[in-house]
Amino acid sequence: MTIDSGFNHITVLLDEAVEALALRADGCYLDGTFGRGGHSRLILSKLGPQGRLLGFDKDPQAIATGQALAAEDGRFVIVQRSFAELGDEVRARGLDGKVSGILLDLGVSSPQLDDPERGFSFLNDGPLDMRMNPGQGISAAEFVATAPVEEIARVFKEYGEERFAGRMARAVVERREKQPFTRTADLAEVLKVANPAWEKGKNPATRAFQGLRIHVNNELGDLETGLEAALDALEVGGRLAVISFHSLEDRIVKLFMRKLVKGEADNLPRNLPVQHKAFEPKIKLIGKAQFASETELKANPRSRSAVMRVAEKLR
Ligand SMILES: C[S@@+](CC[C@H](N)C(=O)[O-])C[C@H]1O[C@@H](n2cnc3c(N)ncnc32)[C@H](O)[C@@H]1O
Repeated sequence: MTIDSGFNHITVLLDEAVEALALRADGCYLDGTFGRGGHSRLILSKLGPQGRLLGFDKDPQAIATGQALAAEDGRFVIVQRSFAELGDEVRARGLDGKVSGILLDLGVSSPQLDDPERGFSFLNDGPLDMRMNPGQGISAAEFVATAPVEEIARVFKEYGEERFAGRMARAVVERREKQPFTRTADLAEVLKVANPAWEKGKNPATRAFQGLRIHVNNELGDLETGLEAALDALEVGGRLAVISFHSLEDRIVKLFMRKLVKGEADNLPRNLPVQHKAFEPKIKLIGKAQFASETELKANPRSRSAVMRVAEKLR
């Protein structure tokens, strides 16, 4: 059963991601981004009675869907916290170093983007919020009302990769002095006017909105912490599969995996005495980066930017 307000999420790389986990019927798995449970349900369908699945999400609607699933299936548990905190959660459950596979399907879900009330959309007006968990942290409205102009520009530039970040941030600050922003359409209009170079087929507020969303939800910080925690939580032979939706996320995942394939000694000064073990890789990569098939691309345009990387823990 899915509990939501009529907004659906089509799971990206569904079969590919579940296959990448190389499931064991009695294994213990972790879905760090439950969403509407597309991946989780397929994982559960392949586990036996001894198998377990622990789901995470920040979002209250995802949690409601997860709780309904947990009520139907005793092998599944859902918690409302960031996957950045998965280390604490698995330690508290006595699962540290015992998890057989972890999936992270990053970013926002379609219901979050499509429901104007969540405040992510520049196309459909809503309250300027953008938090996956509206009960935690500051909203986008609070951020644009209080942050210094340089900080707003940094967020647009670093997280939105917006060329005209400085100019757009100044326009936001000038306007907020007269009237604070409370609605997404209002902010989108000011950004649109301040953006001198509209990209073909792209709303001129797209990049700045992406920057705000990533900042408000600490998406890149959570990813860095979550990847380290995932590695510790996995058992030897356990798999980590990560699906990214933009180059900033994918870069973090790629560099993280590359570092572990090389072994940590690769980063140490050459003349330091290091144990042989330090040169051994901590993970091996499973296959190359994977993208959505032609069939999936046709059925779900959101899969266009998806890239999945998979690794297996070696020690
Ligand atoms: C792309 S959707 C996942 C969809 C899911 N795989 C499915 O098939 O339904 C991403 C979900 O992860 C959640 N999320 C994003 N970052 C998170 C984090 N750091 N911790 C926990 N949940 C997160 C979002 O709230 C959203 O529900």
